[in-house]
Amino acid sequence: MKSHVILLCLGYVLLTSAHSIHNKEWTKLILTHHWPQTFCSMEHCTTNFTYWTLHGLWPNSGAECNASWHFNASLIEDLLPEMKIFWPNLLKPESTIFWKHEWTKHGTCAAKAEAMNTQHKYFSKALELYHKLDLDGILRKSNIVPSETYYKLTDLENSISSSYGVTPKIQCVSEQKQTDFQILGQIEICFDKQFQLVECEHSREELQSQSNSFHTGFTVCDISVPVYYPPLGSSL
Ligand SMILES: *[C@@H]1O[C@H](CO)[C@@H](O)[C@H](O)[C@H]1NC(C)=O
Ligand SMILES: *[C@@H]1O[C@H](CO)[C@@H](O)[C@H](O)[C@H]1NC(C)=O
Ligand SMILES: *[C@@H]1O[C@H](CO)[C@@H](O)[C@H](O)[C@H]1NC(C)=O
Repeated sequence: MKSHVILLCLGYVLLTSAHSIHNKEWTKLILTHHWPQTFCSMEHCTTNFTYWTLHGLWPNSGAECNASWHFNASLIEDLLPEMKIFWPNLLKPESTIFWKHEWTKHGTCAAKAEAMNTQHKYFSKALELYHKLDLDGILRKSNIVPSETYYKLTDLENSISSSYGVTPKIQCVSEQKQTDFQILGQIEICFDKQFQLVECEHSREELQSQSNSFHTGFTVCDISVPVYYPPLGSSL
C-alpha cells in the first residue's frame, strides 16, 4: 500500500517536472536574420536578395507550445506582401510553409505574451522589430558591406553593439576544407518581454557554448578567423 503511494508520487513528480520543462516560461525573444547568399550556398537555392532577411522571432525557451493552434495564412493576408520581401522563404518563394513552421514551432510559444497572442500580432511584431533594427543600415554605416575582402568578427560586433547597446550573436558557416575564413550566416539580436534590447547571452563563453541553429552548419563565429560576407552571385 505504502509503496503504491510512493510510486504514484514519484510518477506525479516525474510527470509534472517533464511538464514544467516543456512549458518553461521564456524570458527573451531572439530576432534572427540570415544572409540569403550564405543560406543558399548551403541549401542549394538561388537568391537575388541583397539584404538581410528575417529568419524568425524565437522565444528563448519552449517549442511547439500549442499543437492545436494551426497556421492560417488568411489571417495574415495583409502582411504577406511585406513578408515576401523581408521574411521570404528562400527555398520556395511561393509557399507559406516556412511561416507555418515558424508559427507552429515558435509563434505558439511567443503567443503566451498578450502582445503576440494572435497570428497577426506575432508576425506583425516580428516585422516591426526587424524594421526597427535596420541591420543592413547599421552595418552599412560602419562600411561593412558584402565584399571579397574579409572582416574581423570584432568589427561586426562593434558596429552592432555600438548602435544597439547590446551584443549580438553572430553565426558563421565553416567549411571543412577552408580554415582561413568563415562565412557570415546569421545574426541574432535579443529583446526582453517588453521588447527592449537585451544581451543575447551574458558572456563570450556562453555565446560559444550555444548553437541553437535551425539549419545545421551554423555555429557561433570564431573570433580568431576572418569573416567572409559574400556578395550576391559570389561562388562559395
Ligand atoms: C528577385 O527576383 C524576383 C523574380 O525574379 C523579383 O520579383 C524580385 O523583385 C527580385 N528581388 C530583388 C530583391 O531584386
Ligand atoms: C491552443 O490553441 C487553441 C486554438 O487557438 C486555443 O483554443 C487554446 O486556448 C490554446 N491553448 C492554450 C493552452 O493556449
Ligand atoms: C482561416 O481563417 C479564416 C479567416 O478567419 C477563416 O474563414 C477560415 O475558416 C480559417 N481556415 C481554417 C482552415 O481554419
